[in-house]
Parts: sequence; structure tokens; C-alpha cells
Amino acid sequence: MNPSILLERNVAWARERLAADPHYFSRLAAQQSPAYLWIGCSDSRVPANVITGLDPGEVFVHRNVANMIYTADINCMSVVQFAVETLKVRHIIVCGHYGCGGVTAAIDTEQLGLIDHWLEPIRELERTNGQELNALKSRTQMVDRLCELNVLHQVLNLSNSPILKRVWDAGQKVSVHGWIYSVADGLLRDLNCTQGTMP
Ligand code: CO
Repeated sequence: MNPSILLERNVAWARERLAADPHYFSRLAAQQSPAYLWIGCSDSRVPANVITGLDPGEVFVHRNVANMIYTADINCMSVVQFAVETLKVRHIIVCGHYGCGGVTAAIDTEQLGLIDHWLEPIRELERTNGQELNALKSRTQMVDRLCELNVLHQVLNLSNSPILKRVWDAGQKVSVHGWIYSVADGLLRDLNCTQGTMP
């Protein structure tokens, strides 16, 4: 499909929004004040706004392959700092998804290049949880459990970051949640690993 189609669709979308609410864009242009920061996978099937039913202006988003959080990742940490300190989001949602291609690639023996370095912490998770993972019946179950373990691990990475430590010490109410999405049924599940103070 020619990308010019997207521009045409955009015009139609903007017209629809204006027809429903004449102040829609002028209100959004004035400021954004999202209550949520979403850190998710780049997978095209897991768009934060769409699956949560949120409108533009309601969720600040950072996505990368396999929803990884490194405290040395200046891109991700800049997003987190801006979201927490300037936008004052109240909830950070780290969201993985079952069947994640990044997680699958991490446990394949095939060498893919730069992405192998990015995904190395997932290999480490596979090694440290080998006993639990090997007890599962199928490779699909193994990948899906590793997707969950990865979310739990990334929630802890973020919770142990200097930014979160600082704002929590200062008494700011912000919580970090770990969720997982199933492409197969369109549903999000809470992994019940919330960290921090609930606003
Ligand atoms: Co993915």
C-alpha cells in the first residue's frame, strides 16, 4: 500500500474528530497531561493506545524490542524522567506480550548481530530459570513463561533505577506495574508485581 494512503486517512480521521468535538485539537494542543507511561514492545500488534482504549493525550509511550529497561539506556531513562518529573504520571506500565519475537530470538541459538547484545539479559533469565522452563511441556509455553519473567525482571530494573529511587524518596506517588498482553485473545493480564506507592 502506498504511504500516501496514510495521509489521506489522516485527513479523514482529523475531520471525524473535529465533527465530534470542535475543540478536540485546540484542547490537546494546549497541553498533555497523561496519567500513564507505557513501556512496551515495538511489535506492531501491541499498540498501547488502541488496546487500552486510550485517546491521544492519555498515555506517554516508549517502545523497544522486547520491552527492555536498562538504567544505562539514555533514551528510555530520558522518557522515564520526563514522564515522572515533568508530566507527573501516576502509573508506569511495563507491558510484554506472549509470543514476543524478541524473547523467541533470545533463546534461539542463531546469531543475529547487534540484537543479540540487546537481548542478552533474556538469555540470562533463561539460564537462571532453566529448571522451571525445562519442566514446561512445549516450546510455546517456555517462550510465554520467559515473556512473563522478562516483564517481572524489567519492573525490578525500573524500580531500582536512580530516577525512581529519587522520586520515591521524595514522596512522589507513582507505581510501576507489570502486565502482559495476549495477541491471541486481545486481553491484558496483570502480573501482580506492582512496585511503589499507589496514588
Ligand atoms: Co515483542
